Amino acid sequence: MCGIIGYAGSQGALEVVIDGLRRLEYRGYDSAGVALLTDQGLAIEKRAGKLSNLMNSLAGRPLDPSTTGIGHTRWATHGGPTDRNAHPHTDCEHKLAVIHNGIIENFVELRQALEKKGHEFSSDTDTESVAHLLEDEYRECNSDLAEAMRRVCRQLRGAFTLVAIHVESPHQVVGARRNSPLVVGRGVDENFLASDVSAFIAHTRSAIELGQDQVVDLRPDSIEITNFDGTPAVTNEYEVTWDSAAAEKGGFDHFMLKEIEEQPRAVNETLMGRVGIDGRLILDEMRLSDDELREIDKIIVIGCGTAYHAGLIAKYAIEHWTRIPVEIELASEFRYRDPIVDRSTLVIAISQSGETMDTLMALRHAREQRARVLAICNTNGSTIPRESDAVFYTHAGPEIAVASTKAFLTQIVAAYLVGLYLAQVRGTKFGDEISEILTQLSAMPAKIEQVLETMEPVRKLANTLKDKQSVLFLGRHVGFPVALEGALKLKELAYMHAEGFAAGELKHGPIALIEEGTPVIVTVPSPRGRSIIHDKVLSNIQEVRARGALTIVIAEEGDESVINFADHIIRIPTCPTLLQPLLATVPLQVFACEMATIKGFDVDQPRNLAKSVTVE
Ligand code: F6R
Repeated sequence: MCGIIGYAGSQGALEVVIDGLRRLEYRGYDSAGVALLTDQGLAIEKRAGKLSNLMNSLAGRPLDPSTTGIGHTRWATHGGPTDRNAHPHTDCEHKLAVIHNGIIENFVELRQALEKKGHEFSSDTDTESVAHLLEDEYRECNSDLAEAMRRVCRQLRGAFTLVAIHVESPHQVVGARRNSPLVVGRGVDENFLASDVSAFIAHTRSAIELGQDQVVDLRPDSIEITNFDGTPAVTNEYEVTWDSAAAEKGGFDHFMLKEIEEQPRAVNETLMGRVGIDGRLILDEMRLSDDELREIDKIIVIGCGTAYHAGLIAKYAIEHWTRIPVEIELASEFRYRDPIVDRSTLVIAISQSGETMDTLMALRHAREQRARVLAICNTNGSTIPRESDAVFYTHAGPEIAVASTKAFLTQIVAAYLVGLYLAQVRGTKFGDEISEILTQLSAMPAKIEQVLETMEPVRKLANTLKDKQSVLFLGRHVGFPVALEGALKLKELAYMHAEGFAAGELKHGPIALIEEGTPVIVTVPSPRGRSIIHDKVLSNIQEVRARGALTIVIAEEGDESVINFADHIIRIPTCPTLLQPLLATVPLQVFACEMATIKGFDVDQPRNLAKSVTVE
């Protein structure tokens, strides 16, 4: 949701900023813009559309040299995606430039007051009010841009990351954050500000988390961080553990393809180092004591989109292993239904980015009710783990494609490990039972690899189905969230009507959607162990087939019972039912990715979407 970069150093600022924007474009791609401090004053270029539009325009009209600059790539909220509304925005005198991520909720009042004072606006954005407010405050506080920023922030309501530069201070960049991400990169004779570390990882791995309600005054040789009230801030500096190659496509046509292929490694790394020499599970980052975990009498899992689907899957395993009731709730709905939450509730917030506003607000609500919150997150130092009582980091590496893939599989693994840990602490499973499940989990990376090696027929299938109007996905038990995830992927990437259903629900209404040739993709659970679910799913396949559906069946190797009811069979290796989502989801990811490619859509940056949704 909007990518932001700021640079103060000795290199050409434009190159640094554009390179950063290239790495941040997945956050939003409605427009892009840069502002540089040059000997001639403020130089700005901004264009609606993708970053390539801005780059083309810069190629035709190069800006003056500069070593201080800011850049923005936008996911529009207030004001349509036009050149005029693209960031940066400026004051009346064109002396300062501001970029923004988030929503200023009181911008209407602010704008009216500023207009009354004679300020002239040239866009429809909430951001421009900040530029004019800064103009006034800068004058009021003896041209101290950092102090002006603190004063402005104290007047704003909502969520914001703000970054500003002023012509009178040619080596300074000032940033601020509330409820929206901003990270500082410490270099040698150069410093950076960005929405996430991928923007400056090619220059430095040394990062500082900017805390809530803090302002940073950045110069080539200094970084000063204060709270909104001007007092010095406590910060946390850390080394980023991955390198810039992890955020490159590495020979793949799309990040999504690369990230799908990385899944065996991502799952493996998320599993690594979790078992002690005594065979017991250890979760180092779990900052909750065993006594606290024994007090838990209810778990509520919250998340959005794909993370929500990971939570739906986790419910089956955690309840089964721990016998603790588990509720799963869309984070965006959670706090509005007055949930019953108290000190003995464990809220598990699942978020790849760690910045999703709906999830953040839900976890804050849970903490206000005194619940303990555990974050499952892929992004070190992001807001959600910082505001949680405990954290379990997935080790998927940076996920750049907007559609979540490797984060999803690692979220499932993480939630399963949390479930097993609870079972261990509370004694609801014996040590050997937990070890057996851990052994089964450790076999999954190789099995995911096997699935990936057999995806050619799935790609061909996408080509066969490219002209279909609609695709339905069915599953029971953990296969139901897999169906939801398969449908979400197809909707968001290939813009096709797709819906996931619990297979048993079909006859209660949705079966009316089936007509001759409607593709229905069904995940069939293993016939071993849970044969009752397996047999019920087979009946559901027959029901849709009898009504003309084209049945595409995902079934484990050796399950011959599906042959007579399937028009296409996608085989996956055998594994226990609870672990099957780690395999069955993969063909659905490949299917959606291939369908989008065939239709000529942008796989990594689907329309209307952005990664890391930092607005509610
Ligand atoms: C879909 C997708 C989204 C995210 C959702 C939550 O492919 O990526 O549905 O899963 O926006 O994002 P995080 O996990 O960052 O909180």
